[in-house]
Amino acid sequence: MNFVRNVFTDAGTVARQAADAIVNLAQQRVKAGGRFSVALAGGSTPRAAYTLLSVSPLIQKMPWEQTKIYFGDERLVPHTHADSNYRMAYDALLKAIPPAIENVFPIPTDNDDVSLCAEFYEDLLRVHFQRRTDNLPGFDLILLGIGADGHTASLFPGTPAASETQKWVTWCDPASTNPNIKPAVKRITITAPVIWNAANVIVMATGAEKAAPLAKVFSENEPADPPIARLLRKCKGQVTFFMDREAGG
Ligand code: 6PG
Repeated sequence: MNFVRNVFTDAGTVARQAADAIVNLAQQRVKAGGRFSVALAGGSTPRAAYTLLSVSPLIQKMPWEQTKIYFGDERLVPHTHADSNYRMAYDALLKAIPPAIENVFPIPTDNDDVSLCAEFYEDLLRVHFQRRTDNLPGFDLILLGIGADGHTASLFPGTPAASETQKWVTWCDPASTNPNIKPAVKRITITAPVIWNAANVIVMATGAEKAAPLAKVFSENEPADPPIARLLRKCKGQVTFFMDREAGG
C-alpha cells in the first residue's frame, strides 16, 4: 500500500493542488513513455480541478496531443443529461481542449441494456491497452472520489460490482441497495482490478461527510464495516489523496 495523504485548508486549494499534480504526472509520463492515459472521476468534487486544467496556465502545460481521456464510471443517462459524468467533464474541461474529440473516450450510454454499454467499453479498453502489461489495462492515472457510503467509482456497497474481479468494466444498480442514492440510475464502472493496476491513483475528497469513510480506508485495523474504497489499499501504484480539513481531519 503506497498512500500519500495531503490535507489542505479548503476545497479550492484541493482543486489547485490536484490539478497541478495531474499536469506534473502527465508531463512525467509523456517524457518517459510518450503518452498519458487518464480515467476521469465523476461526481461534483473534481469539477473545480477540471476547470483549472481548462484555463491558463495549466491548459498550456498539459500534453493534450499525447493524452487519452477515459472515464472511470458513468451514469446510464444521455451524455447531454445534467447527471452525466461526461457532461460534467465536457462543460468543465473537454470543450476547451484541443483536439477534444479524437482523444476522449466516453462510456457509451445509448443502449438501455446497461450490460451492453459495459461490454462495449471493456472491448474498447482491451483494444486500446492491448500492448500494455499482463491482462489488465495499465492506466497512467485513475481519478477517483469517495461517497459518504464509502463507494468509489461506481462500486457501491452490497452490489455485485463491488466484488467483480474478472471483468474490467461492469455495471451497478446502486438504488438496489441504497434507496437514497442520487441519481437513482444504473451506472457503468471500471472494476477494482483495473484500479489496482493503475500506475497512479488520485483521490479528491472534500467535506465532512467523507471523513468517516476515509478514516476507515486509512485505518490499520479492519473496520467492522469496511467501505468499498478500502480496496485502494491493494493498489500497486501510488495512491495520492487530496483532501480538505473536513474530509481528511
Ligand atoms: C459518480 C462518481 C462517484 C463520486 C462520489 C463522490 O459517478 O458519482 O464517480 O464515485 O466520485 O460519489 O461524489 P462527489 O464528488 O459528488 O461527492
